[in-house]
Amino acid sequence: RGARAQEADLAGRHVVISAGGTREPLDPVRFLGNRSSGKQGYALARTAVARGARVTLVAANTALPDPAGADVVRVGTAIQLREAVIEAAADADAVVMAAAVADFRPAHYAEGKIKKRDGQEPAPVGLVRNPDVLAELAAARPRPGQIVVGFAAETDDVLANGRAKLARKGCDLLVVNEVGERKTFGAEASEAVVLAPDGSETPVPYGPKETLAETVWDLVTERFS
Ligand code: CTP
Ligand code: CA
Repeated sequence: RGARAQEADLAGRHVVISAGGTREPLDPVRFLGNRSSGKQGYALARTAVARGARVTLVAANTALPDPAGADVVRVGTAIQLREAVIEAAADADAVVMAAAVADFRPAHYAEGKIKKRDGQEPAPVGLVRNPDVLAELAAARPRPGQIVVGFAAETDDVLANGRAKLARKGCDLLVVNEVGERKTFGAEASEAVVLAPDGSETPVPYGPKETLAETVWDLVTERFS
């Protein structure tokens, strides 16, 4: 952002960011999880603090140092993440859902460790849908003019899938990443395009996650009334 980097253009704003990946327990020692490291969400938190925002970071299963100046709320499951994000969003100017939220959770939680038995086939794992936090936030808008941002990782037809997802979620911005074996998950850098409902596409060239974070905040502040 060069010359504008000194500007505290998020001063007086409260932003909520979710980061990391949820874990859905099967029993006291096992879970269904995903590869999200939380680095993009933490970069969003650091850059928002630097731009003067009050930051609530809802962190799901991350192993990263707390960003200085942010309020960190730790969660495990999608249900816990939903509760923490919805509570923090009540007075937020923007909510950015960078977390990888599990679409499904085991239908049944075993109170005791699941044991194998000789000669017995494993029981299938039944799954149920988790709530869609982003779609719920975009539909509810607890604060008028609140900006809601989603992230999408796609492996194929990145732009077409991104456009459809933006419309389905009803959010104001959707950051679309192309993912593959070596791209994005746990990486220090990423490449993305930010889609908006007016049809605009903001490409973000391959680079550090801070650069993508700054672009997200640029686009969010443009949309504040
Ligand atoms: N998300 C959410 N709640 C869920 C699933 C996803 O809030 N239960 C949010 C993510 O945090 C992200 C956005 O929705 O910001 C897109 O996630 P993604 O998994 O790409 O979207 P889905 O609608 O789950 O689509 P897919 O079937 O491709 O996984
Ligand atoms: Ca999903």
